[in-house]
This record gives sequence, structure tokens and C-alpha cells, in this order.
Amino acid sequence: MSQLVRFSISIESDLLDRFSDTARKHGYVNRSEAIRDLIRESLVREEWEGTEDVVGTITIVYDHHKRELSDRLTTIQHTYHDSVLSTTHIHLDHDTCLEMIAVRGTASDVQKLADALIAIRGVIHGKLSATTSGKKLK
Ligand code: NI
Repeated sequence: MSQLVRFSISIESDLLDRFSDTARKHGYVNRSEAIRDLIRESLVREEWEGTEDVVGTITIVYDHHKRELSDRLTTIQHTYHDSVLSTTHIHLDHDTCLEMIAVRGTASDVQKLADALIAIRGVIHGKLSATTSGKKLK
């Protein structure tokens, strides 16, 4: 972990008040940690615009009774096997499955994989959550 430094910023008081309220509402005990997280969020967004490997999860919810859907989901994951770290399958109820796919790869590959899975007919909902290996944020 790198050295902690202090810096001051100029900001409109109304804006700071609103930020402080929001930070408190989200459970931050001080504004510094809330601001650090905003900075990290912006750096992660930048990672996803670059060409280096990113990390994320894809969550999809689907009805496993739909014809050939499970096979198609598996085929697509094999096509992008370099980007798939692991898959967790949860039987939510008699009909519905939830799959969480941990991914690591270029943002472009990971996005293509997520798009391909989510676009399959019968997938009720899907979401790509973009995060980071954290290597550059320590
Ligand atoms: Ni299932």
C-alpha cells in the first residue's frame, strides 16, 4: 500500500453537503473513504476502456426448460473459455436457474461474452458487473 497523503479541494458548500448526506446514507463513516471509492470507480472505468485484462462477473437468470438454452449457454462459454474463470449454477426454483460467471480477459472479449449470453432467447435477465483485479488500486 502506498503512502497516505492529504490534499485539499475547493468545492461548493451545497455540493459538499449533498455528497456528505449521500456518503452517510451509503454507510461511509467519513468522506475520505467515500471519495477514495469514487476515485477507484473512475479508475476501474478507465481500465475497462483499455486493452489490459479486466475482471468481472456475468449474472444470468433463465428458464432451463427452454429448448436448447442450456446447451447454447455452455457452447458460448466454451467459445470464450479463455475469459471464463468459473461458473456457479444455482437452481432458484423448479424452472429458473441463476448462473454467475466469473470472468477475466480483455474488456472487449468479456463484453462480447456477456452480450452473447444475455442476448440468447429465454434469458430472462442478465448483467455484466465490471470490477478489477485491484492490482493498480492498492
Ligand atoms: Ni438449474
